[in-house]
Amino acid sequence: MSDFQLVKSRKNRKKNTPMIIKNDDATTEKHTITDINTINRRLQDSTSLLKASEFYSQVRDLIADHEIDEVVCYGIGNFAECCIARYQLALLILLREDTMQIPKSSCYFYDPKFYSEEELYLKDAGFTVIPENEEGKRKTEKKTLFYMPHCGKSLYNNLIWANWNRSSLSKCIIVGNSFTNILDRNPRRKLEDSCWYLLSIAPFAKEEKLPENFQYTDIFNDTVITSFPECTLTHSRRMMP
Ligand SMILES: C[S@@+](CC[C@H](N)C(=O)[O-])C[C@H]1O[C@@H](n2cnc3c(N)ncnc32)[C@H](O)[C@@H]1O
Repeated sequence: MSDFQLVKSRKNRKKNTPMIIKNDDATTEKHTITDINTINRRLQDSTSLLKASEFYSQVRDLIADHEIDEVVCYGIGNFAECCIARYQLALLILLREDTMQIPKSSCYFYDPKFYSEEELYLKDAGFTVIPENEEGKRKTEKKTLFYMPHCGKSLYNNLIWANWNRSSLSKCIIVGNSFTNILDRNPRRKLEDSCWYLLSIAPFAKEEKLPENFQYTDIFNDTVITSFPECTLTHSRRMMP
C-alpha cells in the first residue's frame, strides 16, 4: 500500500508538478527500540544469512553490470524493528561493499518513518541521512542507484518527473517495484491521472528481475532493477528533451 495521498484537484495541477502529501501516521506509531547495539546485531545476522545465499550472489552479478557513483535509498522502512526492511538494508550494505566502488558517505538515506535511533545508526555507520523530505524528486548528476524496494508508485513517479530528460534518466537505476506490474495492476485512467511520468516512461525502461530464490518470499518480491538505456530513450525524443 502506498504511503502517499496525491492531492486530487487535477484541474488546478499541471502535469509536470506532481504533488504529494505524506500520511501522518508515521509520527504517531509506537516503537520499542532498545539500543544501537541491538540494531547492529540484528543487521549483522541478516547480512550473514543473505551473504551466504545463492540469491545474493545472483543479485551481486546483476548489479555489477551497472556503473554506480552514488546511492539514494528512499523508503526502506524501520529496519530496527522490521525484518523486511532489515534484509533490504542488509542487501544494500553488502552490494556497496562488494560491487560498488563508492564511499559510505555517498549512500544517502531518507524515510519519514525513521526513528532517531535508526538515523543515528546510519550516521554512525558512515552513511548520509538526507535531512528533509525530497518527496523523491532528486535530480541526478551522477550515475545514481535509487534503492526503493516496495515504495509507493507516487515516489517513483516523482523521481521520473525530476529527471525528465534523456541525459538525467539514463543516469538513473532504480531497484524497486516493476513498472510493468504497476501498469498491469492499475487502471490506465488512474495512472494517467496520478502517475503520468511513470506510465509514459514504462515502455522505454529495461527491467531485470531479481531472482525469486531467497528463503523469505515477501522481502524482494516484485523487485526489479529498472534502467533507461540511452539507445532506448532515443525513441522517446518526441515526449522528452
Ligand atoms: C510500503 S513501505 C515499504 C517499506 C519497506 N521497504 C518494505 O518493503 O516493507 C513504503 C515506505 O516509503 C516510505 N516513504 C513515504 N514517503 C516517503 C518519502 N517522501 N521519501 C522516502 N520514503 C518515503 C514510508 O515511510 C515507508 O517506509
